[in-house]
Amino acid sequence: MAGEEAFVLDPWGTSHVKDYDRLMKQFGIEPLTPELAKRLPYQHRLVRRRLIFGHRDLEMIVKAIEGGTEYAVMTGIKPSGEFHLGTKLTSEEFIYFTSLSPKARGFFAIADLEAYADNKIPLEESYRIALGNLMDMLALGLDPRRVYVYRQSEEMPVLRLAFIFSRAVTYNTLEAIYGPRPFGLYFSALVQAGDILNPQLPHHGGPKPTLVPVGADQDPHIRLTRDLAAKYRDEFGFLPPAATYHRLLRDLTGQEKMSKRNPMGILYLNEPLESARVKVMNAFTGGRATAEEQRRLGGEPEKCVVFVELLSAHFLEDDKLLEEWYWDCKTGRILCGECKARAWEIIGSWLKSHQEKRAKMRDVAERLLEEKTLG
Ligand code: TRP
Ligand code: SF4
Repeated sequence: MAGEEAFVLDPWGTSHVKDYDRLMKQFGIEPLTPELAKRLPYQHRLVRRRLIFGHRDLEMIVKAIEGGTEYAVMTGIKPSGEFHLGTKLTSEEFIYFTSLSPKARGFFAIADLEAYADNKIPLEESYRIALGNLMDMLALGLDPRRVYVYRQSEEMPVLRLAFIFSRAVTYNTLEAIYGPRPFGLYFSALVQAGDILNPQLPHHGGPKPTLVPVGADQDPHIRLTRDLAAKYRDEFGFLPPAATYHRLLRDLTGQEKMSKRNPMGILYLNEPLESARVKVMNAFTGGRATAEEQRRLGGEPEKCVVFVELLSAHFLEDDKLLEEWYWDCKTGRILCGECKARAWEIIGSWLKSHQEKRAKMRDVAERLLEEKTLG
């Protein structure tokens, strides 16, 4: 791009996006317009607040919803640790799109092979982690009768697809998309393409519109898979997968990418309430240097993790309350200490109720992991 540095989206590293418009232009992602959003049967917080900023071919899914025809929602999560706010977002997006029509079918990949290739996590440990992750997803509202759950390492049709796709992909193509990488990661990318097109295989009912809700950093995989879908259309009848993209949020300390090396930055859904409280009370804010200054100038909610990431992206559902909160901060009516204490009341009670629901989900999660589908 003239005079501007091109974005590099790294699905295995530290992508951070400053300018989503530019990102969309560079890669041909469509913005999620209000007109298209309005055609969704109901607008989730992620849609209303434009946390889902862009898409590819979402219209195809909207038409399936409107026409009452079948479509698949497909996503995956690397079982590399306990659920946190980032994985919560992907799950909520997945659950939302699966709930929009009785004709929707969810497919969920536990990316244990990718967790091994990228994070060296042994498959047995992935199993244990994935069980906990599924408990979180069920507590978040996943309907176990409407989803097909599998582990990459055990899913022969997916692995077979990955092999089949390898015939049409050269090293140069992979390097152009992902940069130089160990073959394990390249292979994970092909397995992910297999995941994404799995719902369109004959034993799952054949070609159908498929939506992949993911974070913006996963777009390289989407591009690769759309390309492969076209290359294998004659053989399999694949429709190119549609995708929705959500923003990549900062961690609690204001860093652009969550890292396990910075535990104060990550809020785990299953973490003890007291440690969660400490993290929230220490979160990065848009407050001023002194109380006097903040009363005079007001705070900067648009820079504040408490406001943007915690309240707006995750925990405050009510749009009107959110707006009031914004102005309380902006006009200096409220200071950060009091504000965080108020925020914690909401977050703490959400976590408490989530953890209670989660604890009851072990049996269902175990059965789902063993049987893949309860529908
Ligand atoms: N690569 C994704 C991640 O890092 C996980 C994943 C595996 C995935 N298969 C998928 C995401 C299929 C979307 C669709 O979390
Ligand atoms: Fe953030 Fe609240 Fe402080 Fe405003 S008052 S900057 S919203 S913590």
